[in-house]
Amino acid sequence: MSSAPEALPGGTYFDHAATTPIKPTAMRVLTEVMPALSNPSSLHGSGRRARLAVDSAREQLARAAGAHPSEVIFTSGGTEADNLAVKGLYWQRRAQDPARRRILLPGIEHHAVLETAEWLETHEGAALGIVAVDAQGIVDLPALEATLAESADSVALVTVMWANNETGAIQPIPQIGELCARFGVPLHTDAVQVFGSLPPGTAPMSFRDSGAATLAISGHKIGAPVGIGALLVRRDVVLTPVLHGGGQERDIRSGTLDVAGICSFAAVAQELVASQEQESQRLAGLRDELLDAVVGLEGVTLRGPDPRTHPELRLPNNLHITVDDAEGDSLLFMLDMAGFDTATGSACTAGVPRPSHVLLAMGLSEEQSRGAQRFTLGWTTTERDVAALAAALPAVIAQARTAGMAAARR
Ligand SMILES: Cc1ncc(COP(=O)(O)O)c(C=O)c1O
Repeated sequence: MSSAPEALPGGTYFDHAATTPIKPTAMRVLTEVMPALSNPSSLHGSGRRARLAVDSAREQLARAAGAHPSEVIFTSGGTEADNLAVKGLYWQRRAQDPARRRILLPGIEHHAVLETAEWLETHEGAALGIVAVDAQGIVDLPALEATLAESADSVALVTVMWANNETGAIQPIPQIGELCARFGVPLHTDAVQVFGSLPPGTAPMSFRDSGAATLAISGHKIGAPVGIGALLVRRDVVLTPVLHGGGQERDIRSGTLDVAGICSFAAVAQELVASQEQESQRLAGLRDELLDAVVGLEGVTLRGPDPRTHPELRLPNNLHITVDDAEGDSLLFMLDMAGFDTATGSACTAGVPRPSHVLLAMGLSEEQSRGAQRFTLGWTTTERDVAALAAALPAVIAQARTAGMAAARR
């Protein structure tokens, strides 16, 4: 019998924004549903049972996300949902009126949106309009309003992520939704990082109240398996499909449905939303302990909204810092050696570290963006984990600075 590939030994995990460990509820539902697998489009009895399971999961997910069940389009994850929304809205709006070619977006968007918009610019005649953000990474609403007032007729869509995956900055999506509605322009929002994770005292994310035409969510960010996600699509919104085939999911997303993934995604979503207030209080408390431990260190700067003064503007599980005179990947490597899994937050193309496009869009220089480090907490994070990281950070930062100086001398 062949065995599973050996897993690398893991450190104490502070990278929940990248993916969070699968939750017991997801595992239970997966193991219950998977053996009874059938294609929910099949007409026989087991196909009909699979269809009933999908229908019930669709209702459960819709309730958790403040949507109508018919608005849930299952996808393989956040990237696919973002592609479908941005391309689907662009093609549809351009087909209705060829003058509508502009896509308005802030420069802080996730690559799933940014690269899609850039692809449309290169191959499909789109023109990108970058919406300014302030130093905290929050969209400049008056600037967006002025752009829409000037040229709404030529705008195909506006796309603004609900919360940023690097800095945790939360956008005023319902206000942006209202603004777009006033100008008759559809809004897409990438809500992958906010679903079930809004700060204490904030109502759970609601598609209905967001004013968005489309909204993307992803399973593996909330403790469901990788490979399942959804695009919520308002009932009056028409999208040109990206995938063609069997016409599943209102003909918007063809492909055989992943029944087990869908059921576990919906079960975790329901659980998460029910416990949002309690869990986000716990995580914000732990994050603030870590923040207290690092902001006093010399040359360490908090990036994104300050949760001590504006807790409502930042995801409760996110801490993002830059460290003067240190490289982000040296910090990551030293933390890894000390037993902590963290992230720089920025992409690394073919092994060459690049400054984060998010920090650059917030007005930081390349120099200031270099020593970026993101710590994201989640359902497995304990007080002990945070205390251990807080205790390790001063020495790790000193080591990363020494490594940087040694490299500069070479
Ligand atoms: C804000 C945001 N959007 C989209 C994605 C992509 O989601 P997925 O990994 O499910 O394709 C991610 C994942 O990193 C994300 O953080």
